[in-house]
Amino acid sequence: MKILVIGSGGREHALVWKLAQSPHTQRLWCAPGNAGMTLERCAGSGLEAECVPIAADDLDGLLRFALERHPDLTVVGPDNPLAMGVVDVFQQHRLRIWGPNQRAAQFESSKAFSQNFMAVHGVPAPEAGVFTDPHAAKRFAAKLGGRCVVKADGLALGKGVLLAYSQAEADQAIEEIMLRRAFGSAGEQVVIQELLEGYEISLHALCDGHVAKLFPTAQDHKRAFDGDQGPNTGGMGTYSPAPFLTEDELLTTARMILEPWQRGCAAEGIDFRGIIYPGIMLTSNGPKVLEFNARFGDPETQVYLTRLENDLVELLDASVSGTLRDLELRWSGHASVCVVLASGGYPGAYAKGYPISGLESVAALPDVKVFHAGTIVKDGDFVTHGGRVLGVTAWAETLADAQAAAYAAADLIRFEGMQFRRDIAAKALGHGALLA
Ligand code: AMP
Ligand code: GLY
Repeated sequence: MKILVIGSGGREHALVWKLAQSPHTQRLWCAPGNAGMTLERCAGSGLEAECVPIAADDLDGLLRFALERHPDLTVVGPDNPLAMGVVDVFQQHRLRIWGPNQRAAQFESSKAFSQNFMAVHGVPAPEAGVFTDPHAAKRFAAKLGGRCVVKADGLALGKGVLLAYSQAEADQAIEEIMLRRAFGSAGEQVVIQELLEGYEISLHALCDGHVAKLFPTAQDHKRAFDGDQGPNTGGMGTYSPAPFLTEDELLTTARMILEPWQRGCAAEGIDFRGIIYPGIMLTSNGPKVLEFNARFGDPETQVYLTRLENDLVELLDASVSGTLRDLELRWSGHASVCVVLASGGYPGAYAKGYPISGLESVAALPDVKVFHAGTIVKDGDFVTHGGRVLGVTAWAETLADAQAAAYAAADLIRFEGMQFRRDIAAKALGHGALLA
């Protein structure tokens, strides 16, 4: 098969790496891709994956490329093209593409849509309201005692969410998003949720319009600095499995969330094919959905795909065809840890173009894979080209060993200004861990 992957981050490198291992894969293109992807070779042909300079949100460019080169499957990584309707456009041209269509992608592209859906279909969620009027928003925040989360409705690159611990902070957050438009037109409408406390986990399920196949647990680390301090980022590291739920609790949690979600989709005629990824808070009143994403998490994908034993081409193909029912997802018993190496200053302003050293030493290590995110090749060398630069991923029988291996590898890599968290998976190990 010829496969086109849309996107350029660590998630997409992990997808390319895993798709390349399938004997079905003859040819892989990445639009626009990153420097790491060109290191992958297709198992079916020995050919290297190729980057094509088309932006992930250039729907016309992507369509032109697909009509010329006829990929047998296109795999969409990021949320933006999904929200823009890339799946619908490709389908109109009879091109096979994996990911939710524009209507289904609203679970991520509109927080108001998701909030209303959860209320109507009984998906456990925080107490919340949807507002276009800042005065009404402030009144609702006051009802919650000022302890609330103010979320811009539309996509805001993982930002667009402000936490308030008092009425003054809530008012300020509402003004910031609705009046000063800190996140642009995404702030025309806001969702205000009660502020929940508990452990946060990521759930992923692969859907085919009929069934949803649950992944194991993973946990992301969204804050920039150790001890969950500093600003929110796209994600500074992940590990899987997360030991806060037993296998039974995971199934119960998933049932409480995915069953009403699936019934709701069926009732509303939403044909969801792709990954549904609810961000969940495990509270003393049970699990609650903070948000839905309609794609693979980044960097969750890096830990999931280093544990997945199935052929990913077959899984995604079945997700498109509606034939997932008979497939069983198989996961290695290993734990996997991904540590993101970021540019100094990220998630704020950062410089680019610094040479990266140590990649060859890490490539020689067993059970370690460096997924590139923000890299390009310049004069034959890998140089930094983004906020999140690399995702150093290691797997081992125990979480402690996977963590040690990921950090040993990260310590071999250097670039000017490199920053990373030292405590990825520490919460799980402190927890006493399932994975003894
Ligand atoms: P979201 O983009 O909606 O996942 O929000 C980003 C981050 O804000 C989440 O990962 C949580 O850490 C935090 N957050 C979002 N909603 C809530 C909530 N209702 N209560 C507490 N924290 C929240
Ligand atoms: N891991 C965070 C995200 O993909 O949204």
